[in-house]
Amino acid sequence: MLYRGSLAAGALAALALPSASSATLLYVTSYAGTVTTLNLTVTSPSAASLQSIATSTECGAQPSWLTLVGPNLYCLDESWGQLNGSLISFTTSPTTGKLTLLDKATTIGGPVSAVVYGQGGAGLAIADYAEAGINTFNIANPADLQPVQANAWVLPQKGPNPDRQEKPHPHQAILDPTGKFLLVPDLGFDRVHVFSLDQVTLKQTELAPLLSPPGSGPRHGVFVKAGEKTLFYVITELSNQIIGYSVTYKADNTLGFTQVYISGTHGPEPVPAGAAGGEIALSPDSKFITVSSRNEASLKIPNFDKTNSTQLASDPLITFSINYDTGALTLVQKFPAGGLVPRHFSFNKAGTLVASAAQKDGRLAIISRDVSTGVLKEYVANIAIVGEVNCAIFAE
Ligand SMILES: *[C@@H]1O[C@H](CO)[C@@H](O)[C@H](O)[C@H]1NC(C)=O
Ligand SMILES: *[C@@H]1O[C@H](CO)[C@@H](O)[C@H](O)[C@H]1NC(C)=O
Ligand SMILES: *[C@@H]1O[C@H](CO)[C@@H](O)[C@H](O)[C@H]1NC(C)=O
Repeated sequence: MLYRGSLAAGALAALALPSASSATLLYVTSYAGTVTTLNLTVTSPSAASLQSIATSTECGAQPSWLTLVGPNLYCLDESWGQLNGSLISFTTSPTTGKLTLLDKATTIGGPVSAVVYGQGGAGLAIADYAEAGINTFNIANPADLQPVQANAWVLPQKGPNPDRQEKPHPHQAILDPTGKFLLVPDLGFDRVHVFSLDQVTLKQTELAPLLSPPGSGPRHGVFVKAGEKTLFYVITELSNQIIGYSVTYKADNTLGFTQVYISGTHGPEPVPAGAAGGEIALSPDSKFITVSSRNEASLKIPNFDKTNSTQLASDPLITFSINYDTGALTLVQKFPAGGLVPRHFSFNKAGTLVASAAQKDGRLAIISRDVSTGVLKEYVANIAIVGEVNCAIFAE
C-alpha cells in the first residue's frame, strides 16, 4: 500500500502477480458416468482450494480415460458389458469449465487408454481391453471423428492366470519419443504389441511384439529419453513387477529391446500379498518414475475430515530415480496415494503437483512434490468424486 502513490495501477498489478494464487483446471472421469471439471487454486505451498465447476454425463456410462489436445478433450467410454465402446470429443472452455459435445464414434469393446500421434497430432490410437483390440482414428476435425484402422487378437490358449488371461487385454496406447512407434501392453497376452506408424495416412503396421514373462500381465509402460539412449519401462499388474528395457532403433524401421532392469513394484522391498500394479508415469523432467500399487491398504493417513479421528487406509505411490547409464531404478520414496486403488495419477507440467485418483474411495487428492528430489510432500487439496474416479489430468 505504501507504493500506491508512486506507481501506476498497471505496474502495481504486475508487481502483485508472482505472489498471487494460481488457478488450473483438471478433468476427471468416474465410472459413475461423469466427466468433472475441477478448479484448483493453489494459495500457498501447502494449501489449495479444489472446486467442481462443471459436470458432463455425455461421455456415456463408464468414462475411463481422457486425452486433452489443445482446446479439445477426448473421452473414452468403456461401456461395460457391451460389444462396443465409444470415443467422444468435446470442446473445452477455460472460462466456465463446461464441455461441449462435438462427436461420438464407435470402438472395439472396452476402450481404456488413448494417445495422440501423427503429423499435426491428427491421429488417436486407442487400446480396447474387453474385446482385445486397438483402434486408430483421424481426429484432424474433432467434430468428425474418422476411423482409420483396427487390430484385434485372439489367444492360442488361455494364459497362466486363466481368470484374467482368458483373452488378450490391451491396456494402454503409448507413443515412443520419436512418435514413429505405438506400443500396447497386453495384460491377457503377456506381451507388448509394437506398431510402426505412418505419420500421414495414420495407418499402423504390426511388428514383432516385445514378450513379457508368462503370467506377468503387462498393464502400462513409459518411455524415457536419456540423452542418446532410449529406455522403456513396463509395470505388470499380475506379477507386480517393473521391467526396464534399453530400446534400439533399427535400420529396417523396427525396434529392438534388451532387458536392463527388473524388480517388484516396491523395488527392493517386498510387495504385499494381493497387490495389483497400476499406473506408471515419468516426471516432467524425465528424472523419476512413479508407479501406483493397488489393493494393498498398506499405509495409514489422517482422515481428510479433520473432525474425524479415524485414520484412513491408503495404497502407495512409489517413486524411483533412473540411472540413465544402466537403466536401473533406485527406490526414492513410498507415499500414501490418498486412498485405496490409485488407478491413475498424473503430474502437472511443472512437476510440483500430483493428482491421484483413489478409485475405491471416490477421492481425488492433490499432492505437492519436490521437483529436485522427486519426493511427494503433502496433501494440498482433495475432493470427493461420486463413483469410482479413474483418470485425472491437468489442463495444461
Ligand atoms: C477458479 O478459481 C479462481 C479463484 O477462485 C477464480 O479466480 C477463477 O475464475 C476460477 N476459474 C474458473 C474457470 O471457474
Ligand atoms: C464393435 O466391436 C466388435 C468387437 O468388440 C468389433 O469387432 C467391431 O468392429 C466393433 N464395431 C465398430 C463399428 O467398431
Ligand atoms: C470417520 O471416518 C471413517 C473412515 O472413513 C468413517 O467410516 C466414519 O463414518 C467417519 N465418521 C463420521 C462421524 O463421519
